[in-house]
Amino acid sequence: MKKILFAASEAVPFIKTGGLADVVGSLPKYFDKEKYDVRVMLPKYMCMKEVWKDKLEYNTHFYMDLNWRKQYVGILETEYDGIKFYFIDNEYYFNGFAPYGEMYADIEKFAFFSKAVLCALPVIDFRPDIIHCHDWQTGLVPVFLDNFRFGNEYYRGIKTIMTIHNLKFQGTWDTQKVRDITGLPQYYFAPDKLEAYRDANFLKGGIVYADRITTVSDSYAEEIKTPFYGERLDGLMNARSNCLSGIVNGIDYEDFNPATDKYITKNYDVSNFRKEKIKNKIDLQKELNLEQNQKTMLIGIVSRLTDQKGFDLVAYVMDELCQDDIQLVVLGTGEGQYENMFRHFAWKYPGKVSANIYYSEEMSHKIYASCDAFLMPSLFEPCGLSQLMSLRYGTVPIVRETGGLKDTVEAYNEFEKTGTGFSFANYNAHEMLGTVRYAQRIYYDKKRDWNKIVERGMSQDFSWTNSAKQYEELYDNM
Ligand code: ADP
Ligand code: GLC
Repeated sequence: MKKILFAASEAVPFIKTGGLADVVGSLPKYFDKEKYDVRVMLPKYMCMKEVWKDKLEYNTHFYMDLNWRKQYVGILETEYDGIKFYFIDNEYYFNGFAPYGEMYADIEKFAFFSKAVLCALPVIDFRPDIIHCHDWQTGLVPVFLDNFRFGNEYYRGIKTIMTIHNLKFQGTWDTQKVRDITGLPQYYFAPDKLEAYRDANFLKGGIVYADRITTVSDSYAEEIKTPFYGERLDGLMNARSNCLSGIVNGIDYEDFNPATDKYITKNYDVSNFRKEKIKNKIDLQKELNLEQNQKTMLIGIVSRLTDQKGFDLVAYVMDELCQDDIQLVVLGTGEGQYENMFRHFAWKYPGKVSANIYYSEEMSHKIYASCDAFLMPSLFEPCGLSQLMSLRYGTVPIVRETGGLKDTVEAYNEFEKTGTGFSFANYNAHEMLGTVRYAQRIYYDKKRDWNKIVERGMSQDFSWTNSAKQYEELYDNM
């Protein structure tokens, strides 16, 4: 039995800000339980919902040095869907109203978490063969592990994987300060280790010290070796390319299933979507005060509202797009400029544009189920889960050909009658608009072909089955 520990800063159903939580919360369920004992370690945030906090049971606690600081480390645990979750408790670090806040605070918070993950292992009596780290928040795990190996037999032989869900976020801060926080020897703060462009960089540390590096799609694994996508670490990604691979994300096919989804008004599947899916659309139009017209093409967006997601393209052509016979529903939160942009257009085009600037699991499911198309024009996209959810719900994705979007959405070819969505290559607003208009033409004028696109999309398999196998192979080869 191979023992694997996931270390991460978020996981469904406990705490979520983005796709990372979906991955960390669902992937562990899909390993072969006979061969792999996969457990997950997370921070215990004060901002977790009470229902989840109430489920946690106290395991033990101890005190840990963080340089000159002596910090409390509580360990709580629970089992969910057959997976054991551990939670690192410390009210000083994890008392914020959201998992992440100011960078200077997050730096110390996740340095603490990364060290606590390692110090907790002997205490909970779970010595993993592999620690699978996710994103910059756990970047120091492989670094501390390297440091612990000197003179401590227990940690020798534990391997690490660093999975990059988003290279943009690296966790960088002043080198002196990070030295003071971590207590790591000066030796680690060199340009071939933790240091990048004079600062200490948590993710870089993880990439340098991990035994294997993965990212969440093949295309992104290639892209990050180039300056455009490399976020100033493309040199390092090239240097480590023989340890770097892409494994595309899946989604939880039980949580995201139009045939059983409790959030949507009418369940459907690939055999009856032609008649049933539309009922969700009518209800959503009603709920959101959109003009009730089942024929109008409804385009959805569910997203963090940030530069990454390509909303400057949308802003640029929004007036033009709104001259068309379409409706647009947005669900998301993030940067003020994008939140206000969508609010503005909802005010300007009532009945046509609906801006829902909040977070809601339930509304997201309704949108995936009700829309005809889903727009995701990302500047970069390591994998993207929203387009997979859309495919699953028969909502045709319109995407830019980048990262995981390129790997998971096949562009419609009207001559060969293939494809599951629509895509464009360049980061250009009118190229996007042209693609949306092409989709409209198929939707309005070639409904049979459109329904075939929907059918092909719904028949794709983006469950975790295949990808979990690839992770198993990776674990076995280490
Ligand atoms: P990222 O991780 O970059 O945000 P992904 O596409 O991988 O992008 O994952 C986003 C996840 O967050 C999806 O599960 C999506 O449904 C969800 N999501 C994003 N914004 C919201 C929101 N406002 N309300 C509910 N779910 C949201
Ligand atoms: C990141 C990426 C997104 C990916 C998710 C889960 O948030 O932005 O593309 O799907 O992680 O891996």
